[in-house]
Amino acid sequence: MADTTKTATLTIDGESYELPMHSPTAGPDVVDIRKLYGQAGVFTYDPGFTSTASCDSTITYIDGDAGILTHRGYPIDQLAGKSHYLEVCFLLLYGYLPKAEELEAFETTVTRHTMIHEQMHNFFRGFRRDAHPMATMVGVVGAMSAFYHDSTDISDERQREIASFRLIAKMPTIAAMAYKYSIGQPFVYPRNDLDYAANFLHMCFSVPAEEYHVDPILARAMDRIFTLHADHEQNASTSTVRLASSSGANPFACVAAGIACLWGPAHGGANQACLEMLKEIGTPDQIPEYIARAKDKNDPFRLMGFGHRVYKNFDPRAKVMKQSADEVLDLLGVDDNPTLQVAKELEKAALDDPYFTEKKLFPNVDFYSGIILEAMGFPTSMFTPIFALSRTVGWVSQWKEQLSDPQMKIGRPRQLYQGADLRDYVDIENR
Ligand code: ACO
Repeated sequence: MADTTKTATLTIDGESYELPMHSPTAGPDVVDIRKLYGQAGVFTYDPGFTSTASCDSTITYIDGDAGILTHRGYPIDQLAGKSHYLEVCFLLLYGYLPKAEELEAFETTVTRHTMIHEQMHNFFRGFRRDAHPMATMVGVVGAMSAFYHDSTDISDERQREIASFRLIAKMPTIAAMAYKYSIGQPFVYPRNDLDYAANFLHMCFSVPAEEYHVDPILARAMDRIFTLHADHEQNASTSTVRLASSSGANPFACVAAGIACLWGPAHGGANQACLEMLKEIGTPDQIPEYIARAKDKNDPFRLMGFGHRVYKNFDPRAKVMKQSADEVLDLLGVDDNPTLQVAKELEKAALDDPYFTEKKLFPNVDFYSGIILEAMGFPTSMFTPIFALSRTVGWVSQWKEQLSDPQMKIGRPRQLYQGADLRDYVDIENR
């Protein structure tokens, strides 16, 4: 953490307090309030942590106003265009682009960890068939703690690394099994001769009864979706993973907590909600009605796939995703997809409307991803599990970084108490 010569002065009831400031390599300076309570006896108030830096990090940087996202300094559009998911995983985990032999070794390690303990199959079978695959994933990933004891000692750096490999490698298998179970088909084992994305498509769409050929262009599009979701600095699910980990919880339990958080429609569940909304809108002539509803303060409806806590400009991932949607639909020979048509018209209508531009509400990564995933054959219920498997490397990288951070403390926010004053207990007969 680089100190600046700048300080901030806070004056409370005529008393002034000097607060140190720190400079990041990019982004706004931060005011260090760690000693504020001890010195001034006050807390800060920041619901949703909109102005609070919860940690030091060197992994991902976002400039929300400029619409910039970088991993270890590399812009996301370059990574999505020139790199591939497992290389980005290496970059996120280790901080640099691997040499060819390092990448090959990493890919081999991940590939060799893709199978899950055979007994874990019983876990899947305990769920109802109609369970949401995210419900299954939260349970099964949490249950990994019970199967992989030899990588739960967080004080052992080698065990931390093995847990990271296991999570990155097994998550596609778990997501695919959750899907297969929900449609009543047999589980498909991973294939080590396929790359990460092709293997996931194989585990989702092949059946023992016939040959399945993974289309390399679809595998590339899948890989790009994984890459675009790989990490996003201190978002809600990542902060959940860090908070869970701050108590010393094991990595599988922490990632299960991240999956649970990601499930919500304001976060990872938005891609499912967005596609459902686009289908509900149905035809471009319905768009004005939905725009009016999104603007109506008395209507809880929000334009899903629009707006972001950090991006107050175009989400850079949405640009790549939009291009990918065109490519995938073109490949599949779908040139008149009504949902894509509604999406494009809706985007145009919203960007022409001062309500959205004044509030800086732009399409986010989820706006187009659902269209691609649906065209590939995934049901909407699989959209968030695919997000979870893509984000696993981000959670794991942030978790590893936190554990080697000497500043790490158990997360324990304070509160602005608004409840009753001290009062005496009243016996039941006197209430
Ligand atoms: N449609 C209509 N109005 C919106 C939308 C939207 N999608 N998003 C924000 N607004 C309005 C709010 O009503 C609010 O208006 P007000 O100032 O008049 O009260 C203003 O814009 C600011 O909204 P907040 O909710 O305060 O912004 P916040 O940063 O907390 O929310 C969020 C960000 C949760 C993503 C929000 O924009 C949203 O709900 N979007 C739809 C869900 C979505 O697409 N989520 C995916 C996020 S990306 C991801 O997780 C990968």
